[in-house]
Amino acid sequence: MTTPLFRWAGSKRKSLPTLAEFWQPTFRRYVEPFVGSAALFFRLQPRRALLSDINKGLIEAYKVIRDQPDDLHAAVCAIPRRETTYYKIRAQRPADLTPFERAVRFVYLNRYCFNGIYRTNAKGEFNVPFAHNKPGVIPSIEQFRQCSILLSKTSLRCGDFESVLSAVREGDFVYLDPPYAVESRRIFRQYDAKEFTLEDMERLSKCLRSIDGIGASFVISYADCAEARRLLKRWKPVRHRVRRHIAGFASARRTAFELLATNIEAR
Ligand SMILES: C[S@@+](CC[C@H](N)C(=O)[O-])C[C@H]1O[C@@H](n2cnc3c(N)ncnc32)[C@H](O)[C@@H]1O
Repeated sequence: MTTPLFRWAGSKRKSLPTLAEFWQPTFRRYVEPFVGSAALFFRLQPRRALLSDINKGLIEAYKVIRDQPDDLHAAVCAIPRRETTYYKIRAQRPADLTPFERAVRFVYLNRYCFNGIYRTNAKGEFNVPFAHNKPGVIPSIEQFRQCSILLSKTSLRCGDFESVLSAVREGDFVYLDPPYAVESRRIFRQYDAKEFTLEDMERLSKCLRSIDGIGASFVISYADCAEARRLLKRWKPVRHRVRRHIAGFASARRTAFELLATNIEAR
């Protein structure tokens, strides 16, 4: 099993055993349109995969990890974990950097920011403070190399889920882990400058019907709320207990219930 390289709010690490039950190696391809830290992908290690996310920096960093794991690891490790350095790196304008430099910045900020949250201001600028306590550590070079090997068999895309889901084919397995639209109003602009809304959930619900119609399989996880129960009703969602962070603050960590809905039976 490979540990994800990124710290990511909403990561499904704790639910992996339950989610892994739905996977069968006979599926044609693994598709994840809200990939984040790709916890399930790294656990399952599928032969073929299509991974996507709306976060440009994240997908670009995955491509650099795939193509230059050793160089990237060396460059990130060469930057000290210091508050002043952190804010200097954070202040860099991504547009002024090369893709490699942007990936270095992305990995560095992800490991040393407060609680590994990705949050931006209205201009799309990363604005998470330095983690004085409990920072992440830079993963080992072996982890970078292992992720690189797994990503080399994978197609990586950046964009809205709907365009990626139009590429789903018969026999694919799709895991969907969208942000919680209900909470995103409260925790504002986490993940991207654009919020995930209930209209997005409606769009997603239509996509589930087409995935099913094509003859592909899906599993979706979502916060247990009235809107999700209504939108997922057709797929008979089941409640599932999870421990999760809300906005990354320790005081708001709690056990919550999530809904899992699928068009396949667990083995
Ligand atoms: C809950 S996280 C996924 C966590 C992931 N399962 C993991 O293991 O880390 C949701 C992801 O959806 C992405 N996202 C938000 N809006 C999106 C959209 N409209 N289309 C595609 N991805 C989107 C965010 O950038 C974020 O990475």
